[in-house]
Amino acid sequence: MSVGILTSGGDCPGLNAVIRAAVFTGSKLHDLDFVGYRWGWKGLVENDVVPLGRPQVMGISKQGGTILGSSRTNPFDFGGAERVAEVMAEGGVDSLIAIGGEGTLAAAQRLADAGIRIVGVPKTIDNDLSATDYTFGFDTAVQIATEAMDRLRTTGDSHGRCMVAEVMGRHVGWIALHSGMAAGAHAILIPEQKTSLDQIISWVEHARDRGRAPLIAVAEGFKLDSMDDAHSERGLDAFGRPRLGGIGELLAPLIEERTGIETRATTLGHIQRGGTPSAYDRVLATRFGMTAIDMVLRKRWGKMVALRGTDMIEVPFSDALGQLKTVPQERYDEARVLFG
Ligand code: F6P
Repeated sequence: MSVGILTSGGDCPGLNAVIRAAVFTGSKLHDLDFVGYRWGWKGLVENDVVPLGRPQVMGISKQGGTILGSSRTNPFDFGGAERVAEVMAEGGVDSLIAIGGEGTLAAAQRLADAGIRIVGVPKTIDNDLSATDYTFGFDTAVQIATEAMDRLRTTGDSHGRCMVAEVMGRHVGWIALHSGMAAGAHAILIPEQKTSLDQIISWVEHARDRGRAPLIAVAEGFKLDSMDDAHSERGLDAFGRPRLGGIGELLAPLIEERTGIETRATTLGHIQRGGTPSAYDRVLATRFGMTAIDMVLRKRWGKMVALRGTDMIEVPFSDALGQLKTVPQERYDEARVLFG
């Protein structure tokens, strides 16, 4: 039996560990053959295929990114299930393992509904997929963001400055919450919690009054309570001015103006997504890859692997779609005790 693997959507540390585990387990224990589709769904609809055997995956679990490449192509813009079935038949490929986030899993569900034999592996550094407790990549991103904040702290302390660290998280604040807590930030600002500038200023001043150089962790999708969606969509800030940088760069001058504390913003951006996965992410990704093979062998089409507690489980694609896993109020309140 031949299995096609693809990685789709934004990359994520741990993708290579999934590929390696699937290929090792499948070829060693079950005599499966593998091919890789390049650049996600794009490679599948264009039949851009590479051989994927043990020599190709040896030693890759520690490598960031994906050896297959990735893109945000939607297969339904290029022939959909019919084209996918045609390419699979041409290459003698019986089933697919799609590794990706919400967009990838939504396409995978439509393909499964149309009869394509496909299972899924969830991935996102944002940790916002509702059907799984954790996704690989998140732990690595939190580690990188925490280390960056520790570094910002020493330079901030040396100059008596307020440091604003903007981390990833378009829709949810998991990375900001965890890295901000780990680094002892004086305020954590996340999309789930609209917060007023007055409140932020009071946390900053409180930290300064205790002799600390204030450190703020902000998720890229955070909005001030005075900022509406129309503002951000048009690229305007809370005061209707054009927004050049991210939210960190918007906040820094406002904080400086109101508190008189010199303030600097740093946007971590894709540094959080690149490079070596943490040990936790390698193990989680490896277990996901092994479970995906088990699901292929048991013909669990239309399902994806997920982590529940410490167990590997399988859930329908639909469980991972629609509702994002946001930071619950009680988790934010817990962190908030330490602000200021
Ligand atoms: O994977 C999700 C994410 O990391 C978001 O937090 C971020 O906004 C986005 O990817 C960036 O995507 P791109 O690499 O396409 O700019």
